[in-house]
Amino acid sequence: MEEVRQVGVVGCGVMGAGIVDVCAQAGLDVRVVVSARPSVDRARARVLKSVDNRVRKGLLSEQDRDALLERVSFTDDFAELRDRQFVVEAVPEDEEAKRLVLKEVDAVVESDDAVIASTTSSIPITALARGVERPERVIGAHFFNPAPAMRLVELTAGLLTAQDARVRTEAFVTEVLGKRVVWCQDRAGFVVNSLLVPYLLSGIRMLESGFAAAEDIDAGMELGCAHPMGPLRLCDLIGLDVVTAVARAMYEEYKEPLYSPPSLLLRMVDAGLLGRKTGRGFHDYRR
Ligand code: 3HC
Repeated sequence: MEEVRQVGVVGCGVMGAGIVDVCAQAGLDVRVVVSARPSVDRARARVLKSVDNRVRKGLLSEQDRDALLERVSFTDDFAELRDRQFVVEAVPEDEEAKRLVLKEVDAVVESDDAVIASTTSSIPITALARGVERPERVIGAHFFNPAPAMRLVELTAGLLTAQDARVRTEAFVTEVLGKRVVWCQDRAGFVVNSLLVPYLLSGIRMLESGFAAAEDIDAGMELGCAHPMGPLRLCDLIGLDVVTAVARAMYEEYKEPLYSPPSLLLRMVDAGLLGRKTGRGFHDYRR
């Protein structure tokens, strides 16, 4: 089995940038594909921000940061993924957009041993691999936010994923990236979001109904249950647009009211109050 040394990441939003950081930190050569030239600068800035986070915390020296960044290159040309052994798709949580990217990646990546992983947080992998020429290479590898700090990656094989791709992915994530993996069946939401999303939405419904204030809902879970962040602060970290997309995908699959996004969440997304990334969500980060 060929050792994974060359990785591709498609999409460089909050999750994509974190995954690029994780891969470069592991000493890999990382090629980042974004949709258009002007996005390259934004992508580079996001990766730098993620890496600088560890410099600020004293976890990484400036010299190591510079060496890490040298291992990362940016392009808007999918063809530059042709020699990659592992490619992570990290574009927004939209089934059609993800499917198109997976098709494009599959068309250019040459090695039959390569793995094409989607970091979807909720959409079944078998559905995403529809239309892909070699679906046996497609797998789900769901990273958590912030990717450099969170130790878990959820793995999901689609109905057509080859056993070899499963073995290679688990070995790569555990031995090279140093994360713990959990496996689950190919159902919307996988393990973590099946448990987390109803909880986050309950927190939002509590606020929406006037049951308690945002600070108190968060303090309740932070101080009462030792969670690092309460549900509303965690929504702000994940991004309210992402929480909405994940909830919708789960509602679409199960038709359970507990996955239905509350009106307050939908209105906040309409208003562009997406959380930390836009400066305001349930809390204000502009100071
Ligand atoms: N490397 C890079 N970025 C890091 C980082 C690291 N080691 N540690 C934190 N960050 C980033 C965060 O993304 C955030 O970014 P910002 O600059 O854009 O605001 C900021 O640093 C927050 O961290 P702070 O420095 O303010 O605070 P901490 O260092 O105390 O961060 C934490 C702690 C690791 C974020 C901790 O609060 C925590 O564990 N929170 C819970 C996180 C969690 O539950 N994540 C899972 C979300 S669910 C998910 O991702 C699934 C999805 O499908 C919905």
